[in-house]
Amino acid sequence: MQQSTIDTVYPPTGTLVGGEWRKARSGATFPVHDPATGEVIATVADADPEDAADAMDAAAAAFPRWSATPPKQRAALLHNAFLALQERAEEFARLITLEMGKPLAESRAEVAYAADFLRWYAEEAVRITGTFRTAPDGTARHLTLRQPVGPCLLVTPWNFPLAMITRKVAPALAAGCTVILKPAEETPLSALQFAHILTDVGVPAGVVNVLNTSRPGPLVETILRDGRIRKLSFTGSTEVGRKLLEQAAPGVLRTSMELGGNAPFIVFDDADVDAAVEGAVAAKLRNGGQSCVAANRFVVADPVASRFVDGLAERLRGQVVGPGTDPRSTLGPMINEKQRNRAVGLVDDAVSHGAVPAVHYRTAGRGDAFLNPVLLDRVPSSARIAREEIFGPVATVYRFSTEQEGLALANATESGLVGYVYTRDLNRALRAVEAMECGMVGVNRGYVSDASAPFGGVKQSGLGREGSEVGIQEYLETKYASIDAGALA
Ligand code: SIN
Repeated sequence: MQQSTIDTVYPPTGTLVGGEWRKARSGATFPVHDPATGEVIATVADADPEDAADAMDAAAAAFPRWSATPPKQRAALLHNAFLALQERAEEFARLITLEMGKPLAESRAEVAYAADFLRWYAEEAVRITGTFRTAPDGTARHLTLRQPVGPCLLVTPWNFPLAMITRKVAPALAAGCTVILKPAEETPLSALQFAHILTDVGVPAGVVNVLNTSRPGPLVETILRDGRIRKLSFTGSTEVGRKLLEQAAPGVLRTSMELGGNAPFIVFDDADVDAAVEGAVAAKLRNGGQSCVAANRFVVADPVASRFVDGLAERLRGQVVGPGTDPRSTLGPMINEKQRNRAVGLVDDAVSHGAVPAVHYRTAGRGDAFLNPVLLDRVPSSARIAREEIFGPVATVYRFSTEQEGLALANATESGLVGYVYTRDLNRALRAVEAMECGMVGVNRGYVSDASAPFGGVKQSGLGREGSEVGIQEYLETKYASIDAGALA
């Protein structure tokens, strides 16, 4: 394997099946690229449906024992994984930057975020409860218990190569489920390194299986068709999510779907505009805009719109675009040239429909995946960018005059993941929280992600929640026993 330009400890590169690191059955591998340079930084085992069948056998075989493992033991393993990840935080941050491109400071924040899910679900593992009640007519006692759903397939994205994994693996393991993890093909290395931590701390063979593949379709389909899989958890685009929902339907699988967003960011006329600009930078540029919670549409009241646009333009022009490994960089490359060109296409389409560029793109002159930030004002609703998730460092502004108009603009999308609102009026903030059609709202802040909070969307942004005490419920089924009370009389 090629040595990187930064000091990175490389993970194993095989598949993890039944506790063994193996080559793919076919012997195939695929390359992993550094988005900043396009260079190949590693090759990893390219799993196919045969490997998927092996992983399914392993996850099914490990389930009875793992689900019966005392919660305190499951909690201890997760806690030890949390400690190990914290200890090796810098190594993971470098690996994330190397394969995904974000600046090191952001990768460090991702590792802390990822570790938080391990800590949180180590604590939740011992708090799985049930109920016991007397039936209203007195004839029975009702006992309810929560049991793990069974082996789960976890499909994770490239934008947070570690945190989106711990957000699924930790609650699944805490609940007593076994898993097959299918990370994004762009970023397999963080996943493999994390799996290594899990085996190191003693997670038993078969409880966590990892398959990387360059052809996810057939592999995922094989697992979803296997009668032993009981749950699919997916984070990714709405388009792929719809297909997976179809594939999950014949087996009537439990699903958690964390899909695309088109987040509105409302700035009312009474807002602290400077604070709104700060929040806008955070909500737009975290992860280079490559996040489902990135603000897509800045919906700004007429009286403050010019001040907001000027302030945001200044902040966007001040970004230092460069490789994530360079400590001066505040904005890294996008994941690849294809994504960059897609964002550029959306900008060109908006400008051709009449949007006014306040900051126009320039080629960063560094490599094919780099894009300098863009700000478009007075974007017409006819532009594609008004409807599509941007997933890049492009900000769009839509102006409004009344509160109702602002809220209607914010809700004019089929997505409903997150919204942001800036106002000094508490009543208006609460009206907006209630009126906004989304699963999460940031009030006077451009950041909502937290392991202790229920993350998820409404409308076409998904099903279910991750994080908090709610997240573990996605991996548990309710069983109820009705106990005849006759003998008690
Ligand atoms: C995502 O973009 O998929 C998740 C972002 C987050 O958890 O903050």
